[in-house]
Amino acid sequence: MSCKDVDVYYGKFRAVTGVNLEFGRNEITALIGPSGCGKSTLLRSLNRMNDLVDGARVDGDVLFMGEDIYRKGVDPIEVRRRIGMVFQKPNPFPKSIYDNIAYGPRVTGMKVDSMDDLVEEALTKAVLWDEVKDKLKQSAFGLSGGQQQRLCIARTIAVKPDVILMDEPCSALDPIATMRIEDLMQELRQDYTIVIVTHNMQQAARVADRTAFFTALADKGTGDRTGVLVEFGRTTQIFEDPRDQRTEDYISGRFG
Ligand SMILES: Nc1ncnc2c1ncn2[C@@H]1O[C@H](COP(=O)(O)OP(=O)(O)OP(=O)(O)O)[C@@H](O)[C@H]1O
Ligand SMILES: [Mg+2]
Repeated sequence: MSCKDVDVYYGKFRAVTGVNLEFGRNEITALIGPSGCGKSTLLRSLNRMNDLVDGARVDGDVLFMGEDIYRKGVDPIEVRRRIGMVFQKPNPFPKSIYDNIAYGPRVTGMKVDSMDDLVEEALTKAVLWDEVKDKLKQSAFGLSGGQQQRLCIARTIAVKPDVILMDEPCSALDPIATMRIEDLMQELRQDYTIVIVTHNMQQAARVADRTAFFTALADKGTGDRTGVLVEFGRTTQIFEDPRDQRTEDYISGRFG
């Protein structure tokens, strides 16, 4: 998946501009940068989630398997099935654990031999099966925050996406639950391409193959702050040998 000259607007306000990025298959890419620099905005443009935001518009191309997902005739619902998203706050549906997983395959009309098998497979991949296998009919709200987040990851996996987008998936979790999600991400990257927004620099350094650092630049006239990509490279390079002073200042804690 890649971005070519992507700008994202909310009405007249340009939130992000000129982003060119390549997301490696079966790699984890971290998007980092100070609050308001457009990380969530860019992430939502990668699966047309911004379509659901009033006034949001994306210019440029987001190429997925060689095709622009914004091209006329592309079905945004199919885009979101193939490029799934996990949010900051775990958001299980008010349904049973089982039905949270089965929901996506049902509504998208997926051909499924055995829903029980599919539910087990998704929960196993999300490393949650052993903890919930005896209470599949119970409400998802009865799970801990960390379990709910793994349930949401299992729900995303259930519709068999190619890419998983995660927006600060651990920010509501304690260190142990965070570690479990990070371990899970390492497992998942064998089958999926993952893009994660994180404020936790150690987390980016631990999990990501590549890291993109963004910042916001103020327009001299209007004062509007627009997000730009400052530097993108292998995570080790970004953290150990940043090429741009702004990257260095940010990762060493002098800014943001
Ligand atoms: N729905 C919206 N309507 C209008 N402006 C928005 C909307 N969502 C975000 N913005 C603006 O776009 C800019 C980028 O916001 P965004 O949420 O993408 O930043 P972020 O990097 O994810 O920040 P944080 O780290 O705080 O989550 C900000 O100036 C924000 O106010
Ligand atoms: Mg955000």
